[in-house]
Amino acid sequence: MKILNFGSCNIDYVYSLAHIARAGETLHASGFNIFPGGKGLNQSIALARSGSFVYHAGCVGVDGTLLTDILKDNGVDISYIKKVREKNGHAVIQVAADGENSIFINSGSNTMITKTDVDNTLSHFEKDDIILLQNEISNLEYIVNRAYEKEMCIVLNPSPINETIFKLNFNMLSYIMINEVEAKAISGFDDIEESLEFFKTNYPALRVIITLGKNGCVYQGENEIIYHPIYEVTAVDTTAAGDTFTGYFVSSVSRGDSIANALKRASCASAITVSRSGAATSIPVAAEVDKLIDSMNVRKIDFDSNRLMRRVEKCITDNISSVTLSDISDELGYSIVYTGSLIKKLTGFSFKEYLHKKRVAFAAEQLRDTNAPISEIIQKCGYRNEGYFRKLFKEKYKVNPLEYRKRR
Ligand code: RIB
Repeated sequence: MKILNFGSCNIDYVYSLAHIARAGETLHASGFNIFPGGKGLNQSIALARSGSFVYHAGCVGVDGTLLTDILKDNGVDISYIKKVREKNGHAVIQVAADGENSIFINSGSNTMITKTDVDNTLSHFEKDDIILLQNEISNLEYIVNRAYEKEMCIVLNPSPINETIFKLNFNMLSYIMINEVEAKAISGFDDIEESLEFFKTNYPALRVIITLGKNGCVYQGENEIIYHPIYEVTAVDTTAAGDTFTGYFVSSVSRGDSIANALKRASCASAITVSRSGAATSIPVAAEVDKLIDSMNVRKIDFDSNRLMRRVEKCITDNISSVTLSDISDELGYSIVYTGSLIKKLTGFSFKEYLHKKRVAFAAEQLRDTNAPISEIIQKCGYRNEGYFRKLFKEKYKVNPLEYRKRR
């Protein structure tokens, strides 16, 4: 069984900053680097470093040697990469001090993949070969349709999500690998279990893997759901963590590993990536993963508590202006007293304190994302006493709502 990755190659321009720049803000970068990247390229490198042989197909600019070299040096077959007279795809990446990032891409050469390129490349592959795809290249829908006709095993990581993804027939896919935000964008549900239910109902044969940030990841197959926690590391740069996860997962599955083991290796490899800077260059080789996998700390997660907490949060966000403890106790089916003590145990706050926190955070989101008048937002949050709300807001954000809005 062969593995083909039809995917993007980008040059990443990476800036280290105290925090991600806000609209209207100018910041001094404390560092700057140029790295090879692109979701496609990163995933091919992850596959190769985890021990799989992978063919990478796509387009780079005539000066894309940095990109083809790193693939070649890692043992990736690059015979299906075309050089085109177009600027290389590139990404501008801000990395904040806490390791979080913000990325925008310019597709450049990645949009030069034609239907003829697709047909030519796919003619070298057959039934049951794996094809891995992301959403940073041209003709994605065409590739999915042709690969499906050939009965290939299609693994889609639909990042970044845009309208192209909604044109695809997910019943043609074997696996979809997404994060929480993408799960919500596709299913319409905030709640992970509702999202999983959505996929089960609409695409019964599709195997779904959702990465849940600090809460690990979850796999849903035809008859099973498996959760896996994350490994604890100090975050330096989260870029390519998802790509590492995808590459390692696909590699394990292609070798016939159990899903539980594939999730474990993928989680460990992506934690190592997070502890280093850069995209492709930060992806570990299999020997590093093997060495660390049983010695690294797994973040203990009580999945039952998490599930309860998600139901509490949903109850609050669905009715932020007037939700009461009694509403939540009705939703959970517990007594009011027990529900109150549960919220205290899970969040460290009383229901009232927790509700204020949620409301203030909701108001901040509204101030950032909408132009709604401040008094309207305050009402939406359920406060009649504006002065009280403003006091809570200032305690949390150190500025009043108007100043906060001006900073966006
Ligand atoms: O997933 C990380 C990648 O996203 C970066 O390497 C960047 O090029 C963008 O494609």
